[in-house]
Formats: sequence, C-alpha cells, structure tokens
Amino acid sequence: MANHRFQFLKWWRKLTRREWTIAAASLAILVLTLSFISHSNNSAIPANDLMIPFTPLSNAQQKSAFCLDGSLPGYHLQKGFGSGSDKWVLHIEGGGWCNSIETCSFRQTTKLGSSRFMEHEVQFFGILSSDPSQNPDFFDWNKVKIRYCDGGSFSGHPDSEFKNGTEFYFRGQVIWEAVTDELLSIGLSYAKKALLSGCSAGGLATLIHCDDFREILPKDANVKCLVDAGFFLNDKDVAGSPTIERFYQDVVNLQGVAKSLKKDCTSRLEPYKCFFPQEFISSIKTPVFLVQPGYDFWQIQNILVPRSSDPHQSWFRCKLNINNCNSKQLEVLQDFRNSLLKTLDGFHKNPEGGMFINSCFIHCQTWVTETWHSPRSPKINNKTIAEAVGDWYFNREEAKHIDCPFPCNPTCYHMNFTQG
Ligand SMILES: *[C@@H]1O[C@H](CO)[C@@H](O)[C@H](O)[C@H]1NC(C)=O
Ligand SMILES: *[C@@H]1O[C@H](CO)[C@@H](O)[C@H](O)[C@H]1NC(C)=O
Ligand SMILES: *[C@@H]1O[C@H](CO)[C@@H](O)[C@H](O)[C@H]1NC(C)=O
Repeated sequence: MANHRFQFLKWWRKLTRREWTIAAASLAILVLTLSFISHSNNSAIPANDLMIPFTPLSNAQQKSAFCLDGSLPGYHLQKGFGSGSDKWVLHIEGGGWCNSIETCSFRQTTKLGSSRFMEHEVQFFGILSSDPSQNPDFFDWNKVKIRYCDGGSFSGHPDSEFKNGTEFYFRGQVIWEAVTDELLSIGLSYAKKALLSGCSAGGLATLIHCDDFREILPKDANVKCLVDAGFFLNDKDVAGSPTIERFYQDVVNLQGVAKSLKKDCTSRLEPYKCFFPQEFISSIKTPVFLVQPGYDFWQIQNILVPRSSDPHQSWFRCKLNINNCNSKQLEVLQDFRNSLLKTLDGFHKNPEGGMFINSCFIHCQTWVTETWHSPRSPKINNKTIAEAVGDWYFNREEAKHIDCPFPCNPTCYHMNFTQG
C-alpha cells in the first residue's frame, strides 16, 4: 500500500511538472482511488473479488463510436438477479477532460483515451457491489460501469475533428448513444427501475445526459440520476483568475461540446458556461441527487488553488492534506464551501432532489465501498451515502443532508496525499 501510494505521488509530481495541470490531477485521482481501494481490501470488509470483464461495444464500428485514439469504447456488465433482474444501475467513469492537442494526445496513450490501455476486467465496489452489506439497495440490480475514453464527458462531436492529419476522435456524444443503444438491446429497454450515476467528469456526463436517459426508458419506469463529485463550481482561483472557466472554454471549443448542452442554457449564455452544472441543473426534469464534498480536493487543487495561482507554493501542504491548512487557508476553504452551498440554494428547494454535502476532503465517494456504505463510512444525520441515496430513490424519506463545516464531522474520510 505505502509503495503504491508512493508511486502514485511520483507520477503525480512528474505530470504536474510537465504542466498537465488540470488534466494531470484528474488522471491522478484514478490511481489514487485505486490505492484507496487496495487499502480498504485489507480491512475487515468481505472482499468481493469477482472480476467483471470489459465488453467492447459491438455496434461501435457501425455507429463510428471511438475513443480519442480510434479504439473501441465499452463497458463492464454484471447481470442483475432475483428481484433486481429488471432494474439497472449505470455508473459513468470519471477522469477529467483534455483541452488541447497536447493533453488529448497524452490521453491517447492512457486508458482514459484508449481501450488499448484499459484493464480487461475490474472489480465492482460501492454502488456497483453485489454484496448487500456494502450496497443495501442496488446489490441485485444489473450493474454497468461505462468506461470513459473520449476526454469530453461524453459530449464531444465529430465535426470538431481536425481534417489535416492530426488524429483525434471527438466522439463523446456518439459513444453515449452507442452505449445506451446496446444496453437497451440487452434488457435495459424493459427496465422497471433505473439509476444513471457517475463520478467527477462522469458525474458531469450524468447531469448532461440525465434527461436523454429518462427519454429512452419506458414511461412507467422509475428513472433518476445520481451525480457524485460532478458539481464543478465556476469560481475564480485564489489569485482572482477564471482558471476553470478558461479550461472549460478550451474543452468545449476543442471537442465541439456545445451541441450536447442544454438549449435553454446555450440560447442565453456562451456554450462553455453551460458546461457548468450551476447553469443548467434547474432545467433538468428528471430527479437528481448530488453527492458532493464541501472540500472536494479536486476542485481545491484545480479550481480554487491551481498551480498558476500559487507561484510560491504556500498552499502546497494544505492541498495535500486539509489538516495542514493554516487558519487563513481554512477561511478560504470555508468561503469556497459557502459558495457551493449558496449556488445550491435553488436546487435545495427542488422537492424531487436529494443531496449529501459532507465536509470531507475527498472526491468520488459512491464507487468506493469505504465511503459508500461501511461501518467506517462518512455519515450525516447518522446516514451513510448509500442510505441517503436509497431513501431518496425509493421515496422512503426526504434526503437533503448538509454537513456542519470542517472539522466538525469525525466520520469523514479525509484524503492524505502527503508522501510518507
Ligand atoms: C491541424 O490543425 C490544428 C488546428 O488548427 C493544428 O493545431 C495542428 O497543428 C494541425 N496539424 C497538422 C499536422 O498540421
Ligand atoms: C444510527 O443508525 C444505526 C443504523 O441504522 C442505528 O442502529 C442507530 O441506532 C442509529 N443511531 C442513532 C443515534 O440514531
Ligand atoms: C499523512 O500521511 C503522512 C505520510 O504517510 C503521515 O506522516 C502523516 O501523519 C499523515 N497525516 C495525517 C493528518 O494523517
């Protein structure tokens, strides 16, 4: 474990040195979360070591659905059983975005841009676990992990591809349609209940495609969307620069994302602004649940304090471990959380919505058993994330949970990136 984390840190530093900035850190999350999982495997939680194979899309060629490098996209599927046979939970993988030729070509050499580098099989955890003690409400459903290899939250369009020999496939939207078509053909079209979920860039994809997903399922099916760490705030960084806004602008322009965004947003704002959930969440008709940490480390490291905003690296230690932040830095973090809560004011009033805004220094929490549902999971009002999401999905009770500010919640799992 220690060795694994050490390797991750070396890689992370190498990438940041090469100024991959945002894209780099987002790649790092995957590696990090993996080391987190191997950690949780050592604990008392029963290991669910079934390996779920990668299925390349069989209709990919016909639909021209390709990863950034032209390889075939795909998913991992575990069939539902018992009363879960006609219920489906989909989880869209995350992993940042690429915003330039440089970052997209780097991505083509990783599993986030090419299925040639993906695992042939993966284990399912958290919301994808088939163990009822780890996943009380969805364990017996059909479970699908949709792999992310387009670099644009399943929203790129081929008419933005270069015609001059520079080879990138911007097929995010095409991949989304091909994946859902294929799942419909193998049983999703008979779903009685369905939950579309995703984390990080996959959480953003979930929000963008939530209403389309509702549309393609039977009218009488219960369909909802769960967004994990996908509510990226359009805030300025600590130096006052709109770093994330510029970054999103580059992603949207490069990959032709505008066409996948909500029309009632793009008709009043510049398209890249409509890539921010705060600009379109109110126009989503399908019920949405937000799992969002108040101190999302990805947002702190890339939106609030990107490297460019901190030339003297006075935030370096704080960005690695929230317990290292000084009182001035903590104040800035509290403002950032307050900004999130203020932005979510309108959503909070949505009677069909649910939320779990915990005060932890973490990112994705739904596909990791330790944070989703285990004796050591973060809780608010004595509920784990899995319990709160279940309460909302099945209308058992209202599920709008907002934590008290850091450091009040002793159940939090705070990420510690400090090299030991
Ligand atoms: C193709 O066009 C893009 C965008 O204008 C440019 O950045 C890239 O360098 C070009 N590639 C070649 C091989 O000319
Ligand atoms: C918290 O929830 C657990 C499990 O649902 C329950 O057994 C326990 O009594 C609850 N504790 C409080 C203080 O409500
Ligand atoms: C974080 O990890 C480092 C290295 O393993 C360790 O020395 C340090 O005590 C940890 N910090 C906290 C607050 O857990």
